[in-house]
Amino acid sequence: MNTNRFKFCLIHLLCSLLKILASNDSIITSRSLNDGETLVSEGRSFELGFFSPGNSKDRYLGIWYKNIPIKTVVWVANRQNPIKDLSGKLMMNSTGSLVLSSGNKSDVWFTKPTKSAQSPILQLLDSGNLVVRDDVDEKTDVHLWQSFDYPSDTLLPDMKLGWDLRTGLSRRISSWKNSDDPSPGMLSDGVELAEYPQMVMRKGSRKFYRSGSWNGLQFSGAPELKLNPVFEFKFVLNQEEVYYMYQLKNKSVISRLVLNETTSSRERYVWVEADQSWKLYSSIPRDYCDNYALCGANGICSITNSPVCRCLNGFKPKSAQSWNSIDWSLGCIRNETLDCQRKHDFIKFSSLKLPDTPNSWVNTSMNLDECRETCSKNCSCVAYANSDISRRGSGCILWINDLVDIREFPDGGQDLYIRMPASNRADRPPVKIVVVIVATIVGFSGVLLVSYCVCRGKMKSKVETGGDNINAGPKEDMDLPLFNLATISLATENFSVNMKLGEGGFGPVYKGTLEDGKIIAVKTLSKYSGQGLNEFKNEVKLIAKLQHRNLVKLLGCCIEGEEKILIYEYMPNGSLYSFVFDQTRAKLLDWSKRFNIICGVARGLLYLHQDSRLRIIHRDLKTSNVLLDKELNPKISDFGMARTFVGDESGETTKRIVGTYGYMAPEYASYGLFSVKSDVFSFGILLLEVVSGKKNRGFDHPQNMNLIGYAWRLWTEDRPFELIDSLLENSGIQPDMLRCIHIALLCVQQSPEDRPTMSSVVLMLNGESTLPQPKHPGLLIDLIPGETCPPSSSNEPCSANYSSITSLEAR
Ligand SMILES: *[C@@H]1O[C@H](CO)[C@@H](O)[C@H](O)[C@H]1NC(C)=O
Ligand SMILES: *[C@@H]1O[C@H](CO)[C@@H](O)[C@H](O)[C@H]1NC(C)=O
Ligand SMILES: *[C@@H]1O[C@H](CO)[C@@H](O)[C@H](O)[C@H]1NC(C)=O
Ligand SMILES: *[C@@H]1O[C@H](CO)[C@@H](O)[C@H](O)[C@H]1NC(C)=O
Ligand SMILES: *[C@@H]1O[C@H](CO)[C@@H](O)[C@H](O)[C@H]1NC(C)=O
Ligand SMILES: *[C@@H]1O[C@H](CO)[C@@H](O)[C@H](O)[C@H]1NC(C)=O
Ligand SMILES: *[C@@H]1O[C@H](CO)[C@@H](O)[C@H](O)[C@H]1NC(C)=O
Ligand SMILES: *[C@@H]1O[C@H](CO)[C@@H](O)[C@H](O)[C@H]1NC(C)=O
Repeated sequence: MNTNRFKFCLIHLLCSLLKILASNDSIITSRSLNDGETLVSEGRSFELGFFSPGNSKDRYLGIWYKNIPIKTVVWVANRQNPIKDLSGKLMMNSTGSLVLSSGNKSDVWFTKPTKSAQSPILQLLDSGNLVVRDDVDEKTDVHLWQSFDYPSDTLLPDMKLGWDLRTGLSRRISSWKNSDDPSPGMLSDGVELAEYPQMVMRKGSRKFYRSGSWNGLQFSGAPELKLNPVFEFKFVLNQEEVYYMYQLKNKSVISRLVLNETTSSRERYVWVEADQSWKLYSSIPRDYCDNYALCGANGICSITNSPVCRCLNGFKPKSAQSWNSIDWSLGCIRNETLDCQRKHDFIKFSSLKLPDTPNSWVNTSMNLDECRETCSKNCSCVAYANSDISRRGSGCILWINDLVDIREFPDGGQDLYIRMPASNRADRPPVKIVVVIVATIVGFSGVLLVSYCVCRGKMKSKVETGGDNINAGPKEDMDLPLFNLATISLATENFSVNMKLGEGGFGPVYKGTLEDGKIIAVKTLSKYSGQGLNEFKNEVKLIAKLQHRNLVKLLGCCIEGEEKILIYEYMPNGSLYSFVFDQTRAKLLDWSKRFNIICGVARGLLYLHQDSRLRIIHRDLKTSNVLLDKELNPKISDFGMARTFVGDESGETTKRIVGTYGYMAPEYASYGLFSVKSDVFSFGILLLEVVSGKKNRGFDHPQNMNLIGYAWRLWTEDRPFELIDSLLENSGIQPDMLRCIHIALLCVQQSPEDRPTMSSVVLMLNGESTLPQPKHPGLLIDLIPGETCPPSSSNEPCSANYSSITSLEAR
């Protein structure tokens, strides 16, 4: 009996030894892994070994993808303790502890197994998990230790992000310091256990972005996380565990979630075999409103508004002064303090990201009525909501004190009921009427909903048929419609000269009519070859996300072979240029219209500079890049083009100048130094042109002065009103006009630091701030010879186009 058992054991051991010798995915106690040797998982998806990150010479033990050519490290053992030479050695001792040593240092890094093993074996699995298990144990999925419990910056499929409450183990990911140094950087992300657990990304110790609590379907702050073709996800919350996990639907797709210190975001990448590159699939935080508590307590952020923050209804800014100067951090307070003794009501706010939950209370078995009842009874309860919105809603969260980090989602989001004094509500109509009205509204919105869905459905199918020729990954990811060249060709009568609207900075622009009768503007970018296809698409996608009523809307794009085409909404009234400088059309622009245009352009530019997540610098703002809709509302066009064409240079200088002489700030035109302040300069010129009706370039003045010089002289001679367009004479000279000239001169000051930011400009235009005296303007542009326009261009000024830009590099 005993000998039998012994024999069995021996055979078993021999077998596993043979297995191990034959494969290279595992080691046992007697072997070590030296620098230069690697373990490769059975299916050859991952490799474990020593590596040096980036330009560093330090050695680290890590795991990377074996089956892709770009070395992508997903896990590092000794993140904070690099080995300085090639003497690194990984060993496992007889109890199953891993020990990483180097030269004379024996404890560079080590692990403790949860229990000791008889016959420990270290194995790299095809999931990328490095595990220690007991080879005597028949169950191969019981791990004494696993690297998945100690993640670095990457979350792989099947990895748990969150807590094991039984052992107190917390799994959080943290970014690398930089590409040369895998030690933990500022950014970290994980599940935080409060009254109600939620996913929180931190920068240092500060909350930076909150995905929010799980609501049964997704995270409250991330309604875009939904069914998709690439991965499925789950959130587990029970007595033993709280974690988030995702799994890939198609096991042959390679995808990872990584924290990126450089971009301060959590990014999902998908490997695109055809391009042999990682493609950004999604990125979070995705816009300005995602900044934690941007609008302060009881404020609400809405990305389509400008400014993005406002107070919840029934609340007002705590300090009107700082609120108006775009510092929202103090938040809002109630218009009328809540008196517990007096009657109150709960008002429903829809489509929200629910507030932060540190001061909250949860009961998952209550329904909404019980929830309301409970909140109602407790004086310090200010709001309630369902904790789970799947299956028509269940559970209860109550909030005590302030409501922090709320934003609005145009589609998606949840209902929040906020306590208000009853007096805020008008007298209620009798019950019967309420029922009728409610029924009508419900019926009506049903109709709306159905037609909305039908429309969406139609659009979707069009997008898919239009996108047949692009196969770089999942289509859902291009939320921007793709048109095919044939459609565009047809719409523009094969790019006929008759349909040409003009020559933009990057190529000709055509008018087109789609089959369904919709009129579009088609901007062709064929000459350009600066960027790879993927970067181009990413850029365009980002730009399409910028939406503001003073920006021209990008409807889609078309990429086929060399052709790169952008499709915009069509602006029937053409450009501001074609109005202001045309004696007949300029008469249509009375002062109130001009002022409205100026304010709109300022708001659009403010959005680009500050309120959108991308922080776009336009670099070519001018009257011909401001288009007018039917009601003569201004919309800025060509924004993001500089970014798409030249790339997002993180530095502040550029070799390639994109822009138009006459509008360029001196520091940009001569040294390629650009910043938001160079846009402010261009805005100043635009302002002068709209007020005076005269062009800055080609401004004919006997003393060889340009418009800025002329305006400055009139200003110093105390007769600025002489600048005002004579066509405006019948509206008389208005204070607004002089203020605009004053603001324009502040914008075109020589030194960028002296120029106001666009947020100050907006305040100044509203007359909400006093104006300092302008200093000397930047006149340098005078010295630069003008570019020559191609003969085919329309009468609008041409920008320095791509070829002329390159010739400038030599300067
Ligand atoms: C294991 O590695 C050795 C050399 O390091 C190689 O010759 C052998 O083919 C590998 N075996 C497997 C199964 O990959
Ligand atoms: C294995 O290594 C661990 C960590 O260094 C240590 O605590 C343990 O005592 C070692 N076990 C043996 C049997 O050496
Ligand atoms: C260990 O090695 C380092 C450099 O490799 C050396 O500076 C140090 O003196 C050594 N320490 C001992 C105790 O040998
Ligand atoms: C999985 O992805 C691969 C490569 O992208 C593809 O060839 C295969 O058809 C996909 N399988 C399924 C079931 O979608
Ligand atoms: C972070 O983002 C930058 C810029 O997009 C990219 O170059 C870098 O590879 C990213 N880092 C990681 C770890 O993905
Ligand atoms: C709250 O006060 C602000 C400013 O005092 C006011 O604009 C707003 O209309 C008030 N709202 C309500 C609901 O009373
Ligand atoms: C949660 O609510 C249910 C139903 O009202 C109640 O029976 C239960 O005691 C509550 N649990 C807690 C912890 O308050
Ligand atoms: C109100 O709720 C808070 C938080 O749950 C609790 O601390 C407080 O005791 C409650 N007050 C009353 C009167 O029930």
